[in-house]
Amino acid sequence: MSRIVLFENIHPSAREVFEAAGLTDIQTYKGALSGQELLDAVKGADVVGIRSRTQFDSRVLEHADQLKVLGCFCIGTNQVDLDQAQNHGVPVFNAPFSNTRSVAELVLGEAILLLRRIPEKNLRVHQGFWDKSADGAFEIRGKTLGVIGYGNIGSQVGTLAEALGMRVLYHDVESKLPLSNARVYGSLKQMLAESDVVTLHVPGGQGTHNIMNAEAIAAMKPGSILINASRGTVVDIEALHQALVSGHLAGAALDVFPTEPKSVDEPLKSPLIGMPNVLLTPHIGGSTQESQENIGREVAEKMVSYLRSGATKGAVNFPEVSYYDIQGAVRLLHVHRNVPGAMGGLNNILAQHGINITRQQLQTQGELGYAMTDLDRVPGQDLLDAVRAHPGTVRSDLIFPA
Ligand code: NAI
Repeated sequence: MSRIVLFENIHPSAREVFEAAGLTDIQTYKGALSGQELLDAVKGADVVGIRSRTQFDSRVLEHADQLKVLGCFCIGTNQVDLDQAQNHGVPVFNAPFSNTRSVAELVLGEAILLLRRIPEKNLRVHQGFWDKSADGAFEIRGKTLGVIGYGNIGSQVGTLAEALGMRVLYHDVESKLPLSNARVYGSLKQMLAESDVVTLHVPGGQGTHNIMNAEAIAAMKPGSILINASRGTVVDIEALHQALVSGHLAGAALDVFPTEPKSVDEPLKSPLIGMPNVLLTPHIGGSTQESQENIGREVAEKMVSYLRSGATKGAVNFPEVSYYDIQGAVRLLHVHRNVPGAMGGLNNILAQHGINITRQQLQTQGELGYAMTDLDRVPGQDLLDAVRAHPGTVRSDLIFPA
């Protein structure tokens, strides 16, 4: 029976998935552990689940002597030493897409609020004014949305926007199939000039740094709105500030910032603070109860799939092998150094033990090779010992059909 340890109050949906798979030895911790407490807690665990606050470095990996699979029940995996996990033959899974809908809903909600000038009107009522003017207030229906980055989130924003009656344009560096009636624009400048609302859904990094700089913001339609819930580095905040002050842009909503506060009581520093036509949120685009539940289920399902079949599809540090049923008596998982002769060594050992291979699949990634080999009969412990003793072997396990 696999021993499962889950830290950081992971959503109960994960436990449900493990239990449905018959994995009931589950220990949960409300918070993140560190130091000796963490080392003690992971010792002997086959399966570990963490969120973003548990630092899973090489020392922790050394102590997790039985660890078969690690789940990051969040989006990022920076808290894990992925190379060391690979060296230990431990695949790491995360949930990169579980909060797509949450981000998309926030963006459209903000677009509606800004088009109606609700942030300013809300403030005025709180200050004791009752200004019923319709000046500068617009419906979202019939307006044009420009999506920069038509990936998982951008395309979903586009689909939802069409349901609200928007015309959707998108610009992407890759060729992307348009969903519904969305129209691709090769020229970012042309799309910016036609859009009433522009929303960014690109990755961070050099390729997107200040993609919305002074020149791009100047190319936006006068009176339009800019929304960024992607990465803080993609908008030139000074240029945006100037465009809002001059009135070129009617409003903006930002969920991400070039430098974000590290703790709950550290204030955000930004020239946009205090502007009534700017919505500022603390990087919560993907933070909803539903996304937490989705993350719990998605990561647990990937881990169960790995434990049941060896499938590594979606692992962030491992050669990817998709799920398929065991075709034989048992499946031998073999993680090895990606060097010439590694597979030959494995297959020779099998032949020497009179074991026939019924199906075999190999994938490699960098210095690691990963082979799933189905065998015609269950081998004795001596074969597993021989495979594990081979110098190229990182780890090897048997998986039996359910
Ligand atoms: P994705 O990888 O599915 O889509 C990104 C798209 O941007 C791809 O289609 C890519 O080809 C395109 N792209 C890359 N460089 C570009 C460029 N220079 N110009 C135009 N298009 C470009 O990513 P996904 O899942 O849609 O996420 C988008 C962003 O949202 C990411 O930066 C992610 O970190 C962020 N995010 C923010 C959250 C929040 O809480 N605010 C939550 C989840 C994701």
